[in-house]
Amino acid sequence: MRVAFVGKGGSGKTTLSALFARALARSGAPVLAIDGDINQHLAEALDPTGAQEFTAPPLAEHLGEIKDFLRGSNPRIASREAMIKTTPPGRGSRLLRLLGDDELHTRHVRRAGDVPLMVTGEFDESDLGVACYHSKLGAVELYLSHLVDGPGEYVVVDMTAGADAFASGLFTRFDMTFLVAEPTRKGVSVYRQYRDHAREFGIPLAVVGNKVTGEEDLLFLKEQVGDDLLTHLVHSPWVRSAERGRPQGELEDTNRHALNVLRETVDARVKDWTTLHRHAVEFHLRNARAWADAATGQDLAAQVDPEFVPGPASLT
Ligand SMILES: Nc1ncnc2c1ncn2[C@@H]1O[C@H](COP(=O)(O)OP(=O)(O)O)[C@@H](O)[C@H]1O
Ligand SMILES: [Mg+2]
Repeated sequence: MRVAFVGKGGSGKTTLSALFARALARSGAPVLAIDGDINQHLAEALDPTGAQEFTAPPLAEHLGEIKDFLRGSNPRIASREAMIKTTPPGRGSRLLRLLGDDELHTRHVRRAGDVPLMVTGEFDESDLGVACYHSKLGAVELYLSHLVDGPGEYVVVDMTAGADAFASGLFTRFDMTFLVAEPTRKGVSVYRQYRDHAREFGIPLAVVGNKVTGEEDLLFLKEQVGDDLLTHLVHSPWVRSAERGRPQGELEDTNRHALNVLRETVDARVKDWTTLHRHAVEFHLRNARAWADAATGQDLAAQVDPEFVPGPASLT
């Protein structure tokens, strides 16, 4: 199951991604964390004492090889140049199992603290936007489109705060999206934007309050967010101590409880391969028309394989 953490910069996306991934890993569940943020801080958050150095190469540095690997022998994708971030898998494509013994996982996954991690690499504003052929987040989108994960397996993605996720199909690649919101007007305004996009596409979205310091904060969130407010984390001395590089004791009970609620929410989702694939195709056709047909000089709609059956069937 794929989980995205989104929200305003500074709201706590990286912190919550790390806490959630770590809790999953410690419970023994298979989990992969992905740093998809502009500023890459997830490795630090997962390994606050900096015990290990994170050395795996960023996905964006190997985008060409990743495309070649994933297109496999799919006859509809003639070359890596013809493969864009939205190109959906078809017959002949390489479909991946979570943390499988394959070229992509082997090259890009290393442990940060208790958690296997992949990073996209630092990017700047010029990397963002629909027309970007080399979009760094494209590697994450392609990875998720070609991943066949199942219940009890988790991918946790720390997402960028910007609107780039909407320009591509990336925001449709998840089984659950958690919007992290501080109890402030700015925090909830990002929620409204995201909610409207999510509704349009039927994307499951829940709000997680963060840095809550008292009853007033909680009332504000409840009033602004209503039933979309799933749970909240309180301001955490443990997080502060971890940020100083010296985590002290254990995460507070209230916050551990909130992480459990997140997990139960994800576990209650039923994987919907048909919708995932339909969205992939829809966004691919959109990108093809908007810029990619012109950029590649090809009719990229022809990459869609109408006979492809997404999900576990595609592994055989
Ligand atoms: N529940 C919390 N309690 C205390 N500090 C927090 C909490 N959540 C986040 N922080 C702190 O807030 C700052 C921003 O969090 P971060 O996760 O980096 O935000 P984002 O990834 O959304 O930009 C960091 O200094 C982080 O340690
Ligand atoms: Mg961050």
